[in-house]
Amino acid sequence: MQSHAEAGSSRSNSNSPNANSPLIYDPVSPEAHLDPYPIYQQLRDHHPLYYIAEHDAWALSRYTDVQEGLRDWETFSSSEGVELGTYAKFFGPGSIQELDPPRHDVLRKVLAPRFLNKAVKSYEPMVEATAAELLEDLPHHADLDLGLAFTQRLPIMTIFRILGIPEADIAWTTDTGLEMLNRPPGESGPSPQAYELRAELVSFLEDQVDQRRGGNYTDDVFGDLARAIDDGSMEHEEIQGLTLLLIAAGMETTTSLLGTMVHSLATGAVTREELGGGVDLPTAAAVDEFVRFDAPAQWLARVTTKPVSLHGVQLETGSRVLMIFASANRDPREFDRPDELILDRDGSRNLAFGEGIHFCIGMPLAKLEARVGMRQLLRTLPAFEMNGEPTRYPSHVIRGYQNVPIRWAS
Ligand code: HEM
Repeated sequence: MQSHAEAGSSRSNSNSPNANSPLIYDPVSPEAHLDPYPIYQQLRDHHPLYYIAEHDAWALSRYTDVQEGLRDWETFSSSEGVELGTYAKFFGPGSIQELDPPRHDVLRKVLAPRFLNKAVKSYEPMVEATAAELLEDLPHHADLDLGLAFTQRLPIMTIFRILGIPEADIAWTTDTGLEMLNRPPGESGPSPQAYELRAELVSFLEDQVDQRRGGNYTDDVFGDLARAIDDGSMEHEEIQGLTLLLIAAGMETTTSLLGTMVHSLATGAVTREELGGGVDLPTAAAVDEFVRFDAPAQWLARVTTKPVSLHGVQLETGSRVLMIFASANRDPREFDRPDELILDRDGSRNLAFGEGIHFCIGMPLAKLEARVGMRQLLRTLPAFEMNGEPTRYPSHVIRGYQNVPIRWAS
């Protein structure tokens, strides 16, 4: 990246390199929602640093710029929130995604043991049972929405079970969580109802942790949080941000990934054989390629902590900068034939899971859910086809299918 932090003079946003060009990119526009990739190409080729006047924010779209920006957390801070509007800070205190070191590192350490490869391997039977539970009731020969029935539910139920939510509460917390995360189309903030559901869920989550304090530590995330509060490494008010982040970050993104894979199979864009064919389905390379090709989280933002010079423009301290992972992953400077889905390529260096200190803590879990979820789905439903138009998440950050109408095929 041609960037270096500089003290001294700053350049105002009205002097932005694209000040007089027509609007090309607005992350909340219907065009970006429908198909952002031609827009990203224009950004990469002609406006590698683009000023989005509508949101007083900037956008970085090339692979090396996004990668290096994410690595430099001291200049590009997360502490002012990583989205636009009132979505920034929705989770509240404790959300590590919206914290810089040292607090970020302390709290990430509290979570880490439950999300390391070794721990995640032990969740395989639980994920398989959750997938089977969701799939066993699918009515044969009926029209189905695999989004509602499966791809939205597997990730959230999995994360709830890892948190330690009692079985009797899984059904209502799943419904409440899904409803809370349901984003109204075209809005840059949660609805009043989302705040009400948030309050209901947080009070339940805090109660779960409180029940485990004072030595009643259980072998789950709630138990770890109770211990961390008791030993002083975590504040009680940080329960909300940490748990809501896990629920949201784990649910919407993985739902999108599963939905994209289901959609590709149902439309015939990929075949079962291409996905892996055998026991190990989908292959690790195929999962990497799906997230490279259509990143579930399209971008997240940072705010500069000092003046920064980028592509000949000096950004002021306090500038919000969108790091467009999805565009970086389609950058021909980094990937050959970036607009083609090539399931056996090595696309593992893609930035769909981020980079640097905020690199996705849930990546091993997301990959387990993709592998086990798809395997179970194809056991139950060996052949299916689309039955109407799928609907995408009405979100400007999350891209992927929320509803996937299919029918069984013989
Ligand atoms: C395909 C699925 C997923 C994708 C594409 C994804 C993507 C990402 C990205 C891009 C980041 C970086 C955020 C930033 O730089 O600001 C991130 C962070 C995070 N993800 Fe994921 N994620 C996925 C699944 C999950 C799952 C299943 C969990 C559940 C544990 C999870 C939990 C988190 C958390 C807690 C963070 C914040 C880490 C930190 O700030 O240190 N993610 N994820």
